[in-house]
Amino acid sequence: MKRAAWCSFLLFFSSLSWAQELSVSDAFRCAVIGDTGTGGKAQYEVGARLADLHSDLKFDSVLMLGDNLYGSQKPKDFRDKFELPYARLLEAGVNFYAVLGNHDQPSQQSYKAFHMDGRRYYSVEPRANVRFIGLDSNRLDKEQLAWLEKELAQSIDDWKIVFFHHPIYSSGARHGSNLPLRTALEPLFVKYGVAIVLSGHDHFYERMKPQKGVNYFVVGGAAKVRVGNARRTAISAQAFDRDNSFLLMDIDKDILHFKAISRAGKVVDEGSIPRPGIALPTNLQPLR
Ligand SMILES: [Fe+2]
Repeated sequence: MKRAAWCSFLLFFSSLSWAQELSVSDAFRCAVIGDTGTGGKAQYEVGARLADLHSDLKFDSVLMLGDNLYGSQKPKDFRDKFELPYARLLEAGVNFYAVLGNHDQPSQQSYKAFHMDGRRYYSVEPRANVRFIGLDSNRLDKEQLAWLEKELAQSIDDWKIVFFHHPIYSSGARHGSNLPLRTALEPLFVKYGVAIVLSGHDHFYERMKPQKGVNYFVVGGAAKVRVGNARRTAISAQAFDRDNSFLLMDIDKDILHFKAISRAGKVVDEGSIPRPGIALPTNLQPLR
């Protein structure tokens, strides 16, 4: 066997072993990708990696964190920058849920496969006790904030997961934390027990140490990567900015298990998070 083929085999085998480890339970699984819409080689390679994993893990959904299409956004671009890179997942019936980034045109809201149903911001319950809330962080006006507070107050889901493009916690040298957004959003996340917040915009992976009880991730490297751009500040728990990456989340009742995975299939971060108000079982490692 040639060296390159052998390396591919080893990478596939190592990713398969933990995939099998996760796939024994009936957990709700989803993947998270951000800043995807280049139509370039890296996007297609990450798409292929996701499809390989899906054949073992059967994740239900993919969250798209914005910048879904860079540049031109004609029908051909929806094909080349979304439908073809993720063709195997779409054929398998995986649901994609998108929000708008700064490069996205409002016309994306009406694109059926993004499940936005014509809205800038929306809420969906893909499975009982799991609530996804997608925001438009390009324009966080009073109406959107009032809607968000109402959604959070009404939700009785165990897991409230909020996703939007611009991170309110990030160590990125290029963009970093958006402080006006943090001022507006963080009090609501804390007050209503949001467990997980997902953003992109900075082109790498980062997990912050929990901030006021909320877990923040940056997953902006699914097609582009800014090598060396994560500054790993004091509140950064883990960062990966050497290659493209994405995140898998596995919600098993009271515990969310996550793995961040590189384009090559290497696990670059992993851990377990209890839902708000629940202690982590003693057999699981607490997050750093
Ligand atoms: Fe962006």
